[in-house]
Amino acid sequence: MLAPILSGSSSSTLDKAVQTLSDGGLVAIPTETVYGLAADATNGTAVAALYAAKGRPAFNPLISHVSGLAMAEQLAEFTPLARQLAQRFWPGPLTLVLPRKPDCPVSELASAGLDTIALRCPGHDMARELISRFGKPLVAPSANPSGGVSPTTPLHVADGLGEKIQLILDGGPCRVGVESTVVGFDGETPLLLRKGGLARSDIEAITGPLAKPPEGSPKASPGMLKSHYAPQAPLRLNATTAYDGETLLGFGKVRGTDLSLSPDGDLAEAAANLFAYLRKLDKPGIRRIAVAPIPDEGLGEAINDRLQRAAAPRDNTS
Ligand code: TXA
Ligand code: MG
Repeated sequence: MLAPILSGSSSSTLDKAVQTLSDGGLVAIPTETVYGLAADATNGTAVAALYAAKGRPAFNPLISHVSGLAMAEQLAEFTPLARQLAQRFWPGPLTLVLPRKPDCPVSELASAGLDTIALRCPGHDMARELISRFGKPLVAPSANPSGGVSPTTPLHVADGLGEKIQLILDGGPCRVGVESTVVGFDGETPLLLRKGGLARSDIEAITGPLAKPPEGSPKASPGMLKSHYAPQAPLRLNATTAYDGETLLGFGKVRGTDLSLSPDGDLAEAAANLFAYLRKLDKPGIRRIAVAPIPDEGLGEAINDRLQRAAAPRDNTS
């Protein structure tokens, strides 16, 4: 059976979502970045069901979503710098990876065996209201089958997971459109674990330069598979023109564009359109996709990261 899509943040909709979560069910929720597939973070059985529904490898840990800093501080050890980042950017597209508190009630499965936990307070009223009413953190990976394109509308969620989950909350299209930026720490040194919807420069204004985790280190974000977000057709990046048989995904003033991420060259608009347009291009008539160059600054860093994964060889998707 297809999960119902309930719109609005009415009390009865949220009550139904709370009840479903309390019963160990899976509820797709809107956030400002992408739709998340939520489960009770403290219920190991529900978290296991979430991994199964997505087909997600169990070594890839989940983000726990909180209603605010107070809830987050019950779960993880905050340094003054981490607290400063949360105060400045929450609610919003920033995830912090911090040491779990010894009595952290979040299922160990959500941390995939690491002694850290990823935390985020989403910048969408419906999501925060739901977490507040539920009174406990919600784990929520992007609401798509593992390896696929992240959903930015309720219909995207229904397409990929509608048969495997209990409920979809409709909070409109996602405002940011790419996943949160993930920041971890090596001692006092802040690390950029995933480029995302909060620009690196905004974070560095507070932290100074963000370091890259050494490849293969346990600090690295285990979810960063090389091939991801891939439509069926192969992608060619940095294309200034389309070759025969290619469909051109444009940005700014590129000639011969079939579909443009942002005709005016606005990176925020391009990020918001990215995943919906990759889906549009994922259909039988489209054999090859060329993508116009995107400036590698601000949100462009996250857009290029996702495009590179979509263009990567497809053999290691899981
Ligand atoms: O914007 C977002 O972050 C969305 C919305 C729904 O909040 N969620 C999302 O979740 O993108 P997911 O599961 O698709 O990506 C979570 C990322 C993965 O790359 C994962 O490996 C990393 O966060 N992560 C989670 N816990 C971690 C940990 N303890 N250490 C390092 N990386 C972690
Ligand atoms: Mg994802």
